Amino acid sequence: MTVEGTKSEVLYDAARLVMPGGVSSPVRAFKAVGGTPLFIDHAKGCKVVDADGKSYVDYVASWGAIILGHANPAILSAITEAAAKGTSFGAPHEGEIRLAKLILARMPRLDMIRFVNSGTEATQSVIRLARAATRRNKILKFDGNYHGATDSLLAKAGSGVATFELPPDAQGVPPGVAADTVVARYNDASHVENILRANPEQVAAVLVEPVAGNMGCVPPKAGFLQELRRVCTEHGALLIVDEVMTGFRVAPGGATELYDLHPDLVCVGKVIGGGLPVAAYAGRRDLMEMVAPCGPVYQAGTLSGNPLAMAAGAAALGELTDSVYDKLESLGSRLEIGLRSACQEARVVARVQRVGSMISVFFNDHPIRNFDDAQRSDKKLYGKLFHALLARGVYLPPSALESWFITAAHTPKDIDRTSEAFEAALKEAVG
Ligand SMILES: Cc1ncc(COP(=O)(O)O)c(C=O)c1O
Repeated sequence: MTVEGTKSEVLYDAARLVMPGGVSSPVRAFKAVGGTPLFIDHAKGCKVVDADGKSYVDYVASWGAIILGHANPAILSAITEAAAKGTSFGAPHEGEIRLAKLILARMPRLDMIRFVNSGTEATQSVIRLARAATRRNKILKFDGNYHGATDSLLAKAGSGVATFELPPDAQGVPPGVAADTVVARYNDASHVENILRANPEQVAAVLVEPVAGNMGCVPPKAGFLQELRRVCTEHGALLIVDEVMTGFRVAPGGATELYDLHPDLVCVGKVIGGGLPVAAYAGRRDLMEMVAPCGPVYQAGTLSGNPLAMAAGAAALGELTDSVYDKLESLGSRLEIGLRSACQEARVVARVQRVGSMISVFFNDHPIRNFDDAQRSDKKLYGKLFHALLARGVYLPPSALESWFITAAHTPKDIDRTSEAFEAALKEAVG
């Protein structure tokens, strides 16, 4: 037990007595980088302030949920106004229609949406729907793509799962469940085609992160996502695009718009809740009308469509104008240039990969296209860099295999400060 130390250390000791690993979600525990997780006291704009009062420029941004910056005034007032009218009804209300329309307007190829409380619930529900619609059982996912902590989707799921080195079939997942998950190499549509050919009329859906963010930021190769569409159509499998991370972050209409995709079903989350727990799945009317109470695919939630969360999400999407996306792109590009130059100055071989406000640095000299490539990045160096940056007031994701997120509340000055700190920290880490 730490008797004296930082407040975060004291809190961590207290937390570990009552919560496994002291956390509510594994990657938060700093296991991949070592040390004591920061306990956050409050956050504002692009900064988080820990329990000891130290402020950090934040690139975790609640794992991508916080796109406008912390404690955004429009979101706060929407939540306050909604809360005054009651925190949960367990009955339909107008706020759900408002958020549904805002989301569907940004993804005009989708007709209907069902709200849930987390990305995990969204992917879990969407694969049930895909299985019912196709009367097939297998789901194809990609090595290094993460779709939440759903039993069947934990196979080769990148970041958190890899960080903790769980066996490929995570414990507690029955072999029968895992057997219905087929895993392909990311960015390799011909691998998918071969699998679909080898399993005729068995694969219900191909589930993909359109920009992988759970093995660091790995953009799709040109044509990869279009090829998936073609291959799915040819083999009667549905294409499910998991936009929980990319949705309304990489473009006003998410990756679906950015890459001109025609998915059958989409999952969204994070950004659509403005920092509150909301996610959703959406798709073509004929598919979505299979969901209860319209159809036979059961899915439900006591707090789904929660009025505070709906109001926060609507406020967030209302604030996300074209000019905000321009700003995110310009901040992203500034950081990309700054990080590249910092790596050169520190004489460290690295790849900076970015899509909009998702960015990460791999310590490797080849482009990172899939999970095997990502695994070759120097994780020890990342751990040292992570702590050297914390000491300089910059908070990166506590794992080499996570995307970093820029918010609209970062300023060019924050970005430049980050690049300078990165250069100094990298020199220290390799020195
Ligand atoms: C692409 C993707 N899908 C699904 C999820 C699961 O979402 P949640 O953590 O809200 O359950 C995540 C979480 O990081 C994600 O990145």
